[in-house]
Amino acid sequence: MSDQQKRISELVQKRADAALGGGQKRIDAQHSKGKLTARERIALLLDEGSFEEYDMFMRHRCTNFGMEKTSFDGDGVVTGQGTIEGRLVYVFAQDFTVSGGSLSETQAAKICKVMDMAVRNGAPCIGLNDSGGARIQEGVCALAGYGEIFQRNILASGVIPQISGIFGPCAGGAVYSPALTDFTIMVKDISYMFLTGPAVVKSVTGETVTQEELGGAQVHSSKSGVAHFKADSEQEAISTIRRLISFLPSSNRESAPTLDCADPAGRVDDSLNDIIPDNPNKSYDMYKVIGSIVDNGEFLEVHRGWARNIIVGFARMNGRSVGIVANQPSVLAGVLDINASRKAGRFVRFCDAFNIPLVTLVDVPGFLCGTQQEYGGIITNGAKLLYAYGEATVPKVTVTLRKSYGGAHIVMSCKQLRGDINYAWPTANIAVMGADGAVEILYGKDLKEIVDPAERSAAFQAKKDEYNDLFCNPYNAAAYGYIDDVIEPRNTRFRVCRALESLADKKVSAPSRKHDNLPL
Ligand code: HXC
Repeated sequence: MSDQQKRISELVQKRADAALGGGQKRIDAQHSKGKLTARERIALLLDEGSFEEYDMFMRHRCTNFGMEKTSFDGDGVVTGQGTIEGRLVYVFAQDFTVSGGSLSETQAAKICKVMDMAVRNGAPCIGLNDSGGARIQEGVCALAGYGEIFQRNILASGVIPQISGIFGPCAGGAVYSPALTDFTIMVKDISYMFLTGPAVVKSVTGETVTQEELGGAQVHSSKSGVAHFKADSEQEAISTIRRLISFLPSSNRESAPTLDCADPAGRVDDSLNDIIPDNPNKSYDMYKVIGSIVDNGEFLEVHRGWARNIIVGFARMNGRSVGIVANQPSVLAGVLDINASRKAGRFVRFCDAFNIPLVTLVDVPGFLCGTQQEYGGIITNGAKLLYAYGEATVPKVTVTLRKSYGGAHIVMSCKQLRGDINYAWPTANIAVMGADGAVEILYGKDLKEIVDPAERSAAFQAKKDEYNDLFCNPYNAAAYGYIDDVIEPRNTRFRVCRALESLADKKVSAPSRKHDNLPL
């Protein structure tokens, strides 16, 4: 064998050794927990054969606590680039078989390198996290590594899409970096996110809590809103990431890819002409409206399990990516509360940052009132959504289906917040409030003075009819030009597609400033 051939076989052997991470025993342990390895995850995520790995042979330089004896090629993270449906992405996957995927100075340098490349080359960065946080033996050097990553997360925010898959028990810094990214995906029974685990919680606060209760996928996808997606398996989580990428541009310099659309933009749906119940207090399912108007009924919902009174997610209309924001009348009557405002506000800002037009479907009785909401800061939190819509310069098409009352009417992409095209169905009621509340406030005292109950009820009804005739329709708003057109529900897809077509080259400039000061 020539020297060159020897060196080539040595390379092949070194690569094979490095690919084993912390060794076969630890890989088996990972599998026995029902978990995939970092490399298996990358193989599922990227198009076959597209992965190009960097820094496979990097090692840590720590000698504290005998660490020189536990040094592995790659140092607990696999990094590189590849493609998803032929489009470039950068990826890092932490390898739990090496020191529990904990973050060393070296690991941080590897992650930062792919983050920098992603920003420079205008491609999404996807992190597959499985890590016990800062590597304890490296002390402040590990913390500094997190600082470097966080700073890059912040600078990349709004420049390239950043997506975090959570594939293990992530603690400390391992949860703050995902929190700075755009989307977080967790897996049932496999992912946990917490500042620190149950043992430390017990010693600090005395609280006894399981990993699942503290930071499982269910908790973060339904109670805290930390996770945007929950999957039943790692495979499902990874296919969700691939699907999500398909709706997004590679960076803020581009538009999202437009796909050929077999679903005709002019398709009408007669069932929408019958969807609004006669009784205004009855609900219907907004998912039916979304499914009817978007291409092939395909909708990737974000935050499906959290703040379900508002629906947000990605779809396509005539092949173009859109962000859908829709009140859900069948959950809490579609009211806007703190969580709904936070959920939709963040989504609107993401879409605006990445040139994704917004389609807003409105049926909202107002903001939720009461001490619980006031003490939680509904004023500041509601203002987040208001701010997000007012700030957004992407094409904004709004359809008011039924109720659009008070502050919630303004917030939900009204004309004055630079809504580009605002349609209403004939069933729309656009007013300061519903008829019952309005009559009570305006005439309550007078009505109380009518002694005969039948006479009082008739007088109440007469005032309600007067109010409804004046305000509870779309024509009053249309008379002021606040609604551009009243449309037949069956034509909604066609009208929205045409509106988006006309707005494709929209340009808006803003006054210069260092940055905004949104109500955090
Ligand atoms: C070094 C670590 C480590 C860490 C785990 N390991 N976490 N090594 N630094 N942070 C090692 C273990 O020693 C073990 O090594 C291997 O990884 C697997 O860990 P196990 O504990 O055996 O696994 P498991 O039972 O599955 O528990 C996983 C875990 C637990 C829940 C993540 O290890 C844990 O609680 N780790 C500490 C989590 C934490 O509090 N991190 C916060 C760090 S502070 P061997 O050699 O046996 O395979 C931080 C601050 C950042 O991150 C600043 C942010 C603002």
